[in-house]
Amino acid sequence: MTAEYVLRSLLMLFLALLSANASNWLYLAKLSSVGSISDEETCERLRGLIHKQVQICKRSVEVMDAVRHGAQLAIDECQFQFRNRRWNCSTLETMPVFGKVVTQGTREAAFVYAISAASVAFAVTRACSSGELEKCGCDHNVHGVSPEGFQWSGCSDNIAYGVAFSQSFVDVRERSKGQSPSRALMNLHNNESGRKAILSHMRVECKCHGVSGSCEVKTCWKAMPPFRKVGNAIKEKFDGATEVEQRKVGTTKILVPRNSQFKPHTDEDLVYLDPSPDFCDHDPRTPGMLGTAGRQCNRTSKAIDGCELMCCGRGFQTEKVEVVDRCSCKFHWCCYVKCKQCRKMVEMHTCR
Ligand SMILES: *[C@@H]1O[C@H](CO)[C@@H](O)[C@H](O)[C@H]1NC(C)=O
Ligand SMILES: *[C@@H]1O[C@H](CO)[C@@H](O)[C@H](O)[C@H]1NC(C)=O
Ligand SMILES: *[C@@H]1O[C@H](CO)[C@@H](O)[C@H](O)[C@H]1NC(C)=O
Repeated sequence: MTAEYVLRSLLMLFLALLSANASNWLYLAKLSSVGSISDEETCERLRGLIHKQVQICKRSVEVMDAVRHGAQLAIDECQFQFRNRRWNCSTLETMPVFGKVVTQGTREAAFVYAISAASVAFAVTRACSSGELEKCGCDHNVHGVSPEGFQWSGCSDNIAYGVAFSQSFVDVRERSKGQSPSRALMNLHNNESGRKAILSHMRVECKCHGVSGSCEVKTCWKAMPPFRKVGNAIKEKFDGATEVEQRKVGTTKILVPRNSQFKPHTDEDLVYLDPSPDFCDHDPRTPGMLGTAGRQCNRTSKAIDGCELMCCGRGFQTEKVEVVDRCSCKFHWCCYVKCKQCRKMVEMHTCR
């Protein structure tokens, strides 16, 4: 072993530690809701934040509860979207919250980065609209009369503020050194793609005014979609994600599809560098790699939630369990619904 080799290994280890830090702010979701982030001192004590994020925290303490809420939103949405997949987005009590699963340049990592960047933009924008923050409020650039003839009024969501905050808070690591250049490009692309998923689903909501519901005057405002819609959109991009590699064009580096027959990805697509592991088996050396033993599966489905694929060919156990359902619901005038409780036996399949 030469000294150079040792030095280089140390450097690699250091870089690996740095990059593992990149999404540790998601750990904020693990803070209990008691003891809100109230002053600059709390910012110093928060686990998971890198130096620049601590600085942002100190400058915008009032926004931090929204950031924490965003972290929770990202984790919940990831678990919802991946509930029927082998990797189900389960979190650890340690950092990074998704374990080692997302430290490689996989499709799963692409999803996590996109949904996290989106969730911070979303939660901060929500907080702006609700009047909780001094730094921002509704979007006052939306005013006057629209070309369609309605009046802009009410509170338009200030998505520009939320997106800008997400960019400065979330995109902090790769602006400094510490990760392979292609991985930094991948992360940045997917973060942007996540925020675009909100921007491209902004909608106009309206209210009618006038005698007995006539729509003589209509006032409208711009609103974000429900976060579930954002999650659905990013999950669709996950399903069609593009495998890319780095190419040098002139003096800049860009990501291009690995298969040159594929059309180039757009700003809204997700991109990834590394193939995913099969997620079949529990691997104690890889935190977060839980394997699919014990997972429920669907006997008749041919998709990834089907027992064949979910259990990776290891087979499954079947037991009968009793479920309680609401049934024979009757509508009573006026206005409530009364149901009976029905018990039935269903088969439940569990991977070996
Ligand atoms: C994910 O699957 C594991 C088993 O592999 C299970 O213990 C865990 O509860 C699941 N997590 C979620 C969020 O569904
Ligand atoms: C992208 O988002 C991740 C996850 O929140 C963050 O850790 C990372 O620093 C961001 N990267 C870039 C290049 O913006
Ligand atoms: C199982 O899969 C089948 C076919 O895809 C589907 O129709 C059914 O609703 C699924 N069952 C459950 C319990 O999810």
